[in-house]
Amino acid sequence: MIGIYFSGTGNTRFCVEYLLEKIDPEAKAYSIEDKNVLEELAKEEELVLGYPVYYSNLPKILQDFLENHAPLWQGKKIYLVATMGLFSGDGTGVAARRLKKYGAQITGGLHLKMPDCIVDVKALKKSTEENRKMINQTKLKIERAASLYKQGKPTQDGLNVLCHVAGLFGQRLYFFHKTKHYTDQLKINENKCIGCGKCAGLCPMKNITLEQGKAVPNGACTMCYRCINHCPKQAITLIGKKVLQQSIIEKYI
Ligand SMILES: Cc1cc2nc3c(=O)[nH]c(=O)nc-3n(C[C@H](O)[C@H](O)[C@H](O)COP(=O)(O)O)c2cc1C
Ligand code: SF4
Ligand code: SF4
Repeated sequence: MIGIYFSGTGNTRFCVEYLLEKIDPEAKAYSIEDKNVLEELAKEEELVLGYPVYYSNLPKILQDFLENHAPLWQGKKIYLVATMGLFSGDGTGVAARRLKKYGAQITGGLHLKMPDCIVDVKALKKSTEENRKMINQTKLKIERAASLYKQGKPTQDGLNVLCHVAGLFGQRLYFFHKTKHYTDQLKINENKCIGCGKCAGLCPMKNITLEQGKAVPNGACTMCYRCINHCPKQAITLIGKKVLQQSIIEKYI
């Protein structure tokens, strides 16, 4: 078994790694950004695939990864892990439907609550202590899920028709356009930016370049919030206007 994941701020990476540790300590997890990911994926039949839910849908970077490597999913047995701040309805279901089209078998699904990474909007904000407690609850859920997986009874979160309806009408229908394309809405405040280059180095889309000592976005952002949560000057925003409190997994574990 291996794990494959996309993770903007580390929540999903943490969950996939923790789940693998409980199912099979020998198994390794690879980011879709890892240069060896396709080679490793080709070797394994059984895998865990994890990602954060964006508006009850898949991050655009993951949509493209699934589609661009469609033949690789043929015959795989995939356990889906979707992380979210609060609600997704069918967070795992959206990937399940695509992967089945590519010939994969979906063995189960797991929905996990993690800290909200949209740190320039007030809704869903929790204190550091509350986020730590939430992660401890999530760890317990992962331990139970791993035990069920090993007994041959994997959890089925997000995969039934009711979840599909909840995800579709709860969010996806109204926000579909947000994840259909990469966005050009990322803003970098040039008065705050000190040109350290951290954002450019971290971006999975290579969407940021340094020009005359200032970071500049290039219009192809997958909304992962990584740069926003790492910028030492809190100079970057996307949905909101001001960074309230940065959030990355290392802060809570
Ligand atoms: C653009 C965007 C949209 C999001 N939409 C949802 C959502 O619909 N429901 C939800 O519960 N959380 C939502 N979240 C929160 C993330 O799913 C959550 O914080 C996730 O654990 C982040 O994982 P990561 O650290 O692996 O990137 C959204 C986050 C982003 C950046
Ligand atoms: S991380 Fe922040 S300060 Fe550093 S280059 Fe990017 S925007 Fe500027
Ligand atoms: S610009 Fe920032 S938010 Fe957008 S994809 Fe790159 S790191 Fe993620």
